[in-house]
Amino acid sequence: MQWCLDQVGVVYRLDDGSRIAALSGVSCSIRQGERVAVIGNNGSGKSTLARLLAGIIQPTTGRITHEGEDNHDLGTAALVLQNPGDNIIGETVREEIELTVGGVDDAVTSPRRDALLSQYGLVELLDRPLAELSGGETQLVALVCGLLSGRRMVVLDEPTSHLDPPARRLLIDHLMTQSSDTHDQFESTPAVLFITQYRDEAQYFPRVIELDRGRLSFDGAPEELPVRDRDESPDDNPLPVDSESRPIVVVQGLNQSRSANGESAAVLKEITLTVQAGDAIGIVGPIGSGKTTLGYHLAGLMEPSAGTVEYRQGVSTADPPVVLIQFPERQLFAETVLDDVAFGARNRGLDRSAAAAQTRQVLDAVGLPAAEFEQRSPFSLSGGQKRRVALASVAVCGATLYILDEPTSALDADGHAALEEQLRRWRTEGVAYIVISHDVDWLRRVTERVWIIDKGRLLLDAHWPDDATGAALEQIGFVV
Ligand SMILES: Nc1ncnc2c1ncn2[C@@H]1O[C@H](COP(=O)(O)OP(=O)(O)OP(=O)(O)O)[C@@H](O)[C@H]1O
Ligand SMILES: [Mg+2]
Repeated sequence: MQWCLDQVGVVYRLDDGSRIAALSGVSCSIRQGERVAVIGNNGSGKSTLARLLAGIIQPTTGRITHEGEDNHDLGTAALVLQNPGDNIIGETVREEIELTVGGVDDAVTSPRRDALLSQYGLVELLDRPLAELSGGETQLVALVCGLLSGRRMVVLDEPTSHLDPPARRLLIDHLMTQSSDTHDQFESTPAVLFITQYRDEAQYFPRVIELDRGRLSFDGAPEELPVRDRDESPDDNPLPVDSESRPIVVVQGLNQSRSANGESAAVLKEITLTVQAGDAIGIVGPIGSGKTTLGYHLAGLMEPSAGTVEYRQGVSTADPPVVLIQFPERQLFAETVLDDVAFGARNRGLDRSAAAAQTRQVLDAVGLPAAEFEQRSPFSLSGGQKRRVALASVAVCGATLYILDEPTSALDADGHAALEEQLRRWRTEGVAYIVISHDVDWLRRVTERVWIIDKGRLLLDAHWPDDATGAALEQIGFVV
């Protein structure tokens, strides 16, 4: 039983009539039960391949077949979309799971469903509204629904981009050892297509496919994958220009609660900390520990249940910190990339042509050449391209403090480099930034201090080389 792609090409048509070749001449086959990792730069065609296999789009040229028939059937493969929130249609986790397994014999599915829910820590979340879940929790729900779908293929589009290291390990181990536990309707296990930006994850898969600008550039065992020539470790923490301590945000006794079934549950507990001018701080913590909520409080976007967030020199409610949200696709709004990014520059008083000039410069810096991208609709871009637009649109805001929530997810190596370049620029300009990330090694390179959060509490506030960071990371299950 297999899927065959024969010289497949996909061309997208834009509103202005122009065309984009997202895939060209792709030929390969995938057998039932196979585990395949798909890698490739932003815009290389990975999500397009996912849509093809799920039967959502059809090839413009060539042919894709499943068991010899054209792959029109939407029921063959389950697709867990790149942006986990896009999968969600229910109100609560329980409802989402029921919608997923609806129609499949309950006696067969329920033991497997219960096992998966407890393995992925979702039992406590069952009655929570999906709209309230953290990014990582939402991703886990989308994943478990994909695994429970009982389809012949499960296509996971960057499924670990918001997971912490323990959840990431769990998923990969699970996919590698998976047998009949996630599958009931068919005799053999489903094929898994695992799209990722993390080459280290691809190493676990027996087969890796690489796409390069729409073409299949590699298909083989991970050991044979050519090494990328990019130097991945630029200089460590650059020194700030302004090393004298000057508090810009002071947080005291911050508590945040949410109501759950008529009772109050704590999201943040007694957080006290200070951000100094020019600080470069990383925030690390397990899925659902309160990182994004803390970021929102620092940006003045939430009212504390108790305690205070006070702005000092250079930061005010009129000139607040700027936040790059965890799913920055959601902050895109304009018809063109140019208008979207220029909005922030116009907002700080630049006239139209100065704002456009700055926008073009920033677009080039984030790896979206203005000449090619400025007239594109931001909504027609690939996942990583959208994130670059969002990064550009915060970078033009000229803030004193930036808060970036998992800014590396969905970015390829060039995107990482562009982001690091932006952080370096802020560092030399004395602009403070706070970065939330599960990628501890990367955070250590680009920040000077770290806040480790666990279950809403600040477990540690320390400079990176501090021995305590290793112990605290171990305590929260992050192996370094
Ligand atoms: N709906 C669309 N309309 C027009 N062009 C599109 C659309 N979706 C994707 N594209 C373009 O097709 C190409 C391939 O996009 P695709 O989303 O498949 O890439 P990707 O490899 O998944 O990238 P990423 O790593 O950024 O998620 C890109 O040039 C992108 O701009
Ligand atoms: Mg994609």
